[in-house]
Amino acid sequence: MYLKEIELINFRNYEKADIKFNKNKNLIIGENAQGKTNLVEAAYLCAFSRSFRTSNATEFVEFGKDYAIIRIKSISDDIERVIDFTILKNGKKMVKIDGKPIKKTADLLNNIVVVIFSPEDIGIIKDSPDKRRIFIDKELCQIRTGYYECLKNYKEALKNKNILLKNKEIKDIDGLLDVYDEQIVKYGSQIIDYRSAFIDMLADRSWEIQNKISNGKEKLEIKYKPSSEKIYLRDRIKEARKKDKIRGYASVGPHRDDIEFYINGKDAHKYASQGQQRTVALSLKLAEVKLTKEIIGENPILILDDVLSELDLDRQNYLMEAINDIQLLMTATEVNDEVLEKLKEKTIYCVHSGEIKMI
Ligand SMILES: Nc1ncnc2c1ncn2[C@@H]1O[C@H](COP(=O)(O)OP(=O)(O)O)[C@@H](O)[C@H]1O
Ligand SMILES: [Mg+2]
Repeated sequence: MYLKEIELINFRNYEKADIKFNKNKNLIIGENAQGKTNLVEAAYLCAFSRSFRTSNATEFVEFGKDYAIIRIKSISDDIERVIDFTILKNGKKMVKIDGKPIKKTADLLNNIVVVIFSPEDIGIIKDSPDKRRIFIDKELCQIRTGYYECLKNYKEALKNKNILLKNKEIKDIDGLLDVYDEQIVKYGSQIIDYRSAFIDMLADRSWEIQNKISNGKEKLEIKYKPSSEKIYLRDRIKEARKKDKIRGYASVGPHRDDIEFYINGKDAHKYASQGQQRTVALSLKLAEVKLTKEIIGENPILILDDVLSELDLDRQNYLMEAINDIQLLMTATEVNDEVLEKLKEKTIYCVHSGEIKMI
C-alpha cells in the first residue's frame, strides 16, 4: 500500500500544503524545526487516529486557527481511499473515509498500515514496560482486527475496577469486583493469546535481521513476560484482591505485561550499549514490516523520522537495502551520497518553515 497524496490545512506549521508522493522512496529534507516531523505525523495520524509524540490533539491545530484538516489519498489493494481527518481547536477529532464519517476508531485502523521508526524507539528497549506494551499494542491494532476492541474493553473494565479499589467509602465492593474481574479475565486472556502469538513471530524475524545487521555476532532473543499466564489469570487476580484493596489498584493482568530482549543471552535493557539498543529497535521495526506483509498480504508504509543520522554507515546501508519494494517517507537534515545512491525511484522534498517543495 502507499500514500498518493497528502493535503494539509492549518496543520501545525503548515497553513496549506499539497504533496504528491512517489510510491517508492520519498525523502523529506530540511533544517531542524521546519516541519519534517509534522508532515509524517499527519500521515501517522490518519493511520492510528493518534500521534506518536503527543496525546494532546489541540497541538495539531496551527496557532491562532480554529481547525486543522489532513486529507490523505491512499492506495491499498489497488483501491484508492480518501481519509479526511479534521481536528478542532478544542481537540475534537472527526474522521471520514471516502466521505462517510466513521463511527469508531477501529474503523480507521486497518486502512493504512504504517510502521514508524523514530529516535524515541530506543525507549522500547531502554525505558519502562509501558513503552513495550504500547509498541506491541499499536502493531496488533493495525494487523489484527478485533484486537483494538478487545483492548478497549479490557481497559474499560480495568479502569472501573481501579476506581472501585481506590474508593475507600463503599464497604462491600466484592460483588462488583467479581463482575469486573470476569471481564478482565475474558478480555485479558484474549490479549495474552494475541500478544503471545505476535511476539513469537516477531522474535523469529528480528533474530534473523539482527543476525544479518551484526554479521552474525549478535543473537537477539525476545521473550514475552506476561503478568500472569493465561491459565492462572483468574486465580492470580483472586489471590491479589486483598492486597489490591490496600494498594488501591489492580496489580495483576496484561496491563502489567512486559517483553524482554536478550543479546547473546544478556538482558539488553540492562547491559546493551546505546548503539546495540538502537540496532535492536531497528531490527524490531524491520521485523514488524516483514510480519505485516505476511499477515495482511501487503507492505506497510514505512516512516523513518530522523533516524539515519543515529545509525552508522553500515547500518544505514543495510536499512536501505532491506526496504526495497516498500513506500518510504524518510526525513533527515542531510543524507549521505552513498545512501542516496541506494534509493532508486526517489523523490526529494525540501521543507522550510512549513512550506514544502519537490526538488
Ligand atoms: N500548532 C502549531 N502551530 C504552529 N506551529 C507549530 C505548531 N506545532 C508545532 N509547530 C512548529 O513546528 C515546528 C517543528 O516542526 P517539526 O516538524 O517538529 O520540525 P522538524 O523539521 O525538526 O522535524 C516548530 O517550529 C514549531 O513551533
Ligand atoms: Mg523532527
